[in-house]
Amino acid sequence: MKGLVIGGLGIFHVFLAQFAIGGGALMTYFEWLSGKGKLPSARRFTDGYFKVLVLVSFVVGALTGVGMWFTSIQTSPRTIGLMVDTFHWVWATEWTFFALEVIAGYCFYRYGKDLDSRSRLFLLGLYTTASWFSLFWINGILSWQLTPGAWLEGGDLWAGFFNPTFWPSLFFRTVAAMAIAALVAALVLSVSPTLEQDEKKELLHRAAHLLAPMALMPLLGAWYLFAMPKDSRSWVLGGSPAMSMFFGVGAGASLLVGLYAIVGLLWRRLNVNGATASLLVALGFAASAGGEFVREGARKPFTVRETLYSNAMTPAEIVTLREEGSVTRDPYPLRDDQVFPNDQVRLGAKVYRFQCSVCHTMGGVNGIVHLAGTWTGEQTRLNVAKLQHTKPFMPPFAGTPEELEALVRYIEWEAAERPSPFEVTNDAATLAQIKRWLDEAGTAPGYTTRPASVKK
Ligand code: HEC
Repeated sequence: MKGLVIGGLGIFHVFLAQFAIGGGALMTYFEWLSGKGKLPSARRFTDGYFKVLVLVSFVVGALTGVGMWFTSIQTSPRTIGLMVDTFHWVWATEWTFFALEVIAGYCFYRYGKDLDSRSRLFLLGLYTTASWFSLFWINGILSWQLTPGAWLEGGDLWAGFFNPTFWPSLFFRTVAAMAIAALVAALVLSVSPTLEQDEKKELLHRAAHLLAPMALMPLLGAWYLFAMPKDSRSWVLGGSPAMSMFFGVGAGASLLVGLYAIVGLLWRRLNVNGATASLLVALGFAASAGGEFVREGARKPFTVRETLYSNAMTPAEIVTLREEGSVTRDPYPLRDDQVFPNDQVRLGAKVYRFQCSVCHTMGGVNGIVHLAGTWTGEQTRLNVAKLQHTKPFMPPFAGTPEELEALVRYIEWEAAERPSPFEVTNDAATLAQIKRWLDEAGTAPGYTTRPASVKK
């Protein structure tokens, strides 16, 4: 569940940040056109609303960016810790480009009107280059989470940075940034009160040039998918209905925008009105949202593949926690401790909090009671004991049979609408069965191995 908060904020952030990059590219292109005397109205456009929009999205993009790191630190401190440990210099480099972006952008915003064309072009070029490079650097860190590549073997920084999805993801985002900027420009043009109709048409046609690289998207998308681990790819391509659907939304929305761009804007030189332009921007947003959802989802059950599970455990720790218990050393009390009917359910609630609550709620979004509330006790025990085989985007269960039984009782107590009193179960035969199932499931992630019983 907590993951969804980050995901939601992330989609918003990525859209704004990509617009801030593409918007810079568009303004640089327009400035160049007007400097060459090819398009005198371009300068009026760059100095108008569009500039303000780029500024606003840049500022809000930066704020939501900080907001994202802030929320991720709350929900996944260990992941962020590992990222900082591994990439602090890369991150510092990214921040210097970000600072350059701020300075160049601000200078243009504040003094652009009084400068000659060459200085304007220089500032815009600097802003765009710096913003693209901040994408370049952060892209290495984010794509490393999905495909750490050769970093896994020797911990080499550059092997992790230039990992298998680095280039497809960078190119894809660059194309998306330009497309978003062109769509927003179309919207601004369609509602502009100061430009003449034929000026609008000419500017729109020029802005649409930034949509042309979208023709590469199917190729880049395929490259990206191909560079992903096989199991992640299979979820996107049908294995997980939610992810496949978001992938479809992303691809479909991009296709519609691309077709409109080619047929309408470039080939037939159509004009767009405000309503069409808004719809196109909405499609662009849907495409980004779909893409981000898929990228975040494809990483499951890890936040850093093969290294750290989404619930902040390493694969090696699962082995020891199976023996020692996952919450034996959890010092934090439960909220509203007194509402639980007995210590077993309390233990179950702690196990849920530690191992499941990053991705699930109890009764809300992805709620375990919705998913397992109708199962029989035995069915729940089996499916939780073999969690990574129940659905391979979940980590293996990481606790003792007693903890698993407590978790099952907690789920049953919630499904029964919290009755009090509630029976404690401690049947030795049941615990022994759970132990057998846990052993059969093993501690490797679900996509790498089949359970021992299936192998033979
Ligand atoms: C990395 C995220 C993640 C973690 C951690 C996680 N789950 Fe899940 N779980 C999911 C997703 C995603 C689904 C799929 C939901 C769907 O199919 O709609 C799921 C499905 C389930 C289901 C339904 C399975 C089915 O076949 O219908 C159960 C039961 C479940 N989880 C229980 C748990 C329990 C108990 C824990 C903690 C021990 C846990 N999960 C930890 C992500 C996670």
